[in-house]
Amino acid sequence: MRDGMIAVDDLLLEISDLSVTFDVFGHGYHVLDGISFQARKGERIGLVGESGCGKTSTLKAILRVLPRNAVINGGSVSFSGKDVYKMSGRELDLMRRNGAGMIFQDPSSALNPVFTIESQFLTALKYSSDAGAPRSELYSRAAQALENVMLADPERIMKSYPYQLSGGMKQRVCIAMTIAAGRQLMLADEPGTSLDVTIQDQILRLINQLVQDKNLAVIMVSHSLGVIRESTSYVNIMYAGTIVESGGTEDVFKKPAHPYTVALMACVPKLTGEELSKGIPGRVPDYSEPPVGCRFSARCQFARDVCGRMKPPRTEISPEHFVSCYFAGEGF
Ligand SMILES: Nc1ncnc2c1ncn2[C@@H]1O[C@H](COP(=O)(O)OP(=O)(O)O)[C@@H](O)[C@H]1O
Ligand SMILES: [Mg+2]
Repeated sequence: MRDGMIAVDDLLLEISDLSVTFDVFGHGYHVLDGISFQARKGERIGLVGESGCGKTSTLKAILRVLPRNAVINGGSVSFSGKDVYKMSGRELDLMRRNGAGMIFQDPSSALNPVFTIESQFLTALKYSSDAGAPRSELYSRAAQALENVMLADPERIMKSYPYQLSGGMKQRVCIAMTIAAGRQLMLADEPGTSLDVTIQDQILRLINQLVQDKNLAVIMVSHSLGVIRESTSYVNIMYAGTIVESGGTEDVFKKPAHPYTVALMACVPKLTGEELSKGIPGRVPDYSEPPVGCRFSARCQFARDVCGRMKPPRTEISPEHFVSCYFAGEGF
């Protein structure tokens, strides 16, 4: 069991009952609704769900970089035992430089176009753990990190501006920067999905390898079940700002228990020549007036009266496998 094997002080990240609303011209969009999960040292956690269900917002909430119109309505995020929303400016800087780093879907937006990679990399390292190190040492650390992400000719890369590199190279540079600063937690937001599939595949392999070698914790965000199955050991299935099911990845894939998870898995195209999936009828609810009960109830073919009225409690259906559904395990 997870709790039995890993000491409690290995807990890096704890999100408890987090709720976030976006204010748009005076209207509240209640996007995140009671998100809870944890990440321990070396753990690979997945967050999967349709686009628009709040995955990126969850990652941004962890680093406290949500847009200005976001309001935290409740809950908490703590990193290494400290409440992120009560941290001083200095503590926040430290967490972002040394603790947790984010890799974005589009690597171009993460790099500054007017500075060379060398300048950006060394600045990032300068403010990380051993700030007093001489420039030559930082340079060799950066060059080593570029080699670790399989970039040939680090010297040339260091001299380049972002526009001189391909998308895959830029993504590798971003990963190298996250790793070199000695962070313990990597927040990977659909890494490489803006790149073509073969490059995306290489990037995922690289992340998996580095996570393993350096014993990093990772939160892998994806809309792809295949990616999640391959690269995580624990998964949270997200629907419309809520986590509907969570558990060991193999367990959840073998015995999905929430109707949304079951439907999501049925959508994956099969190579066996079966007919195309029909998808999940309906769409993610309007966040200005989300259902008071289960947020999936309006699309759920098994929904009964109670589902739309009251939030289903999170129930442990087998060790470490949690489902928020009144009728979980009734064989959907
Ligand atoms: N700054 C914002 N203002 C208003 N709505 C936002 C803002 N950022 C995100 N949203 C809304 O929050 C929802 C979740 O977005 P996001 O976290 O990006 O989802 P995902 O990463 O799963 O695709 C979407 O409906 C999106 O339109
Ligand atoms: Mg996103």
